[in-house]
Amino acid sequence: MIVALDHIAIAVPDLEKAIKRFMEDFELTYKGSEDVADAKTSTAFFPVPETSIELVHPLNGEGPIAGYLEKKGGGLHHLCFRSDDIEADVKRLKAKGYQFLSDKPSLGAHNSKVIFIHPKSCDGVLIELNQPQGDH
Ligand code: CO
Repeated sequence: MIVALDHIAIAVPDLEKAIKRFMEDFELTYKGSEDVADAKTSTAFFPVPETSIELVHPLNGEGPIAGYLEKKGGGLHHLCFRSDDIEADVKRLKAKGYQFLSDKPSLGAHNSKVIFIHPKSCDGVLIELNQPQGDH
């Protein structure tokens, strides 16, 4: 079951500059950065009650965000819905014909289980499902 809009991710060409902007210009609380090796992505999170802004930037200059920035220069990258049972939701959505970017969930930021629905299944919008796995 989908239980929340977990975060909105923005691809940024300069992560430090974007972190400063969200902290100093938008006065959001910076919750910290995390490199997600599996996703080849550096992330920074700014929780806004009941959701977060996620800044995503290529980790070591490679990965899917590098390609996105090359094509678009930055922008709104994906929406993430929080699930309380990601395997059940993937199964349910696959049965409805949704295509996913991977066969099963992998490890994302904050040690959560994550999987992405192909944009062509959602009118061009990349949608992530995640399931937090407790504290770490
Ligand atoms: Co995300």
